[in-house]
Amino acid sequence: MQDLRTRDRQESIENEFVEVKQQFEEIVGRSAALKRILGQVEVVAPTDATVLILGETGTGKELIARAVHRLSPRRDRPFITLNCAAIPTGLLESELFGYERGAFTGALSQKIGRFEMAHRGTLFLDEVGDIPLDLQPKLLRALQEKAFERLGGTKTIPIDVRLVAATNRNLTQMMGDKLFRSDLYYRLKVFPITTPPLRDHPEDIPILARHFTQKYALKMSKQIDKIPSDTMRALVNWSWPGNVRELENFIERAVILSQGPNLRAPLEEIRTDAVEPAGDSTLEHVAREHITRVLRETGGVISKAAVRLGMPRTTLNALMQKLGISRKDL
Ligand SMILES: Nc1ncnc2c1ncn2[C@@H]1O[C@H](COP(=O)(O)OP(=O)(O)OP(=O)(O)O)[C@@H](O)[C@H]1O
Ligand SMILES: [Mg+2]
Repeated sequence: MQDLRTRDRQESIENEFVEVKQQFEEIVGRSAALKRILGQVEVVAPTDATVLILGETGTGKELIARAVHRLSPRRDRPFITLNCAAIPTGLLESELFGYERGAFTGALSQKIGRFEMAHRGTLFLDEVGDIPLDLQPKLLRALQEKAFERLGGTKTIPIDVRLVAATNRNLTQMMGDKLFRSDLYYRLKVFPITTPPLRDHPEDIPILARHFTQKYALKMSKQIDKIPSDTMRALVNWSWPGNVRELENFIERAVILSQGPNLRAPLEEIRTDAVEPAGDSTLEHVAREHITRVLRETGGVISKAAVRLGMPRTTLNALMQKLGISRKDL
């Protein structure tokens, strides 16, 4: 009896493990950087804590948001997304909270907002940095009081929603510029997860490249078994400012171009020298282009750029001044 119970428990642990792995199925990569954030997802998902996903464009923030939901006890409840950048600012409030019939001209019937749709599930506020300043207090209030009113309505509606938010904006800087309220920021930043840029985990590029090659070859009914080694080398060496999305789109294009079993990638697009404009090859020009590019890739953080350029911060500052590079140009 005892043995059976132990075995059952063992099996259930194993099943749980398999399940956890399946939850991350669409997230490809084995680097320590990626494992670290998946570990964070596993820790925070079962709780009801608000998760704020930060990271550059194309780094998989949306994938992480979905994984948080799938690994949470709310997984069988709705996962509702609202992309705050995609909705005209005037409509955002009614998208979030809904409205009653007659709330404004044209409100011919009642509309349920995303908060209500997400009841007992997860609400994913994508591009949360784009929420206009005047709407921010209302969002904060709904989160804090776990209740809200539809536009034009008087009834307070209680909600049980787990919030996941994401942005590629620098919220700290936006707070400094008075574009994002600090009270809302701290309410969102209960459990922050930062998705790393692809250039910080290039060891995942080969596995991602193979994954996308298979994905698009299957879609286009092609048989592609091999990525030539010079192609792979070029892929690993490119800095991918658009991150995994850029890599995915590049591979899709390569699969379209491929006719045999070897992937034929348009490598000229991802060779650093290809982006230098012909004609101006003075040392100053090349240096200016290179430094600007590295600064862009490091999000304008001078200390990080200096490390990548292999020079002290002060030297980089002096060079930037000499070459007339200002952060505004980035
Ligand atoms: N680790 C990964 N494994 C597999 N696919 C990935 C991974 N990371 C990102 N992707 C893919 O890259 C694309 C971009 O990812 P996603 O939309 O999650 O990025 P994002 O961080 O939300 O970007 P943005 O800030 O521009 O909205 C998607 O097609 C996604 O499936
Ligand atoms: Mg996104």
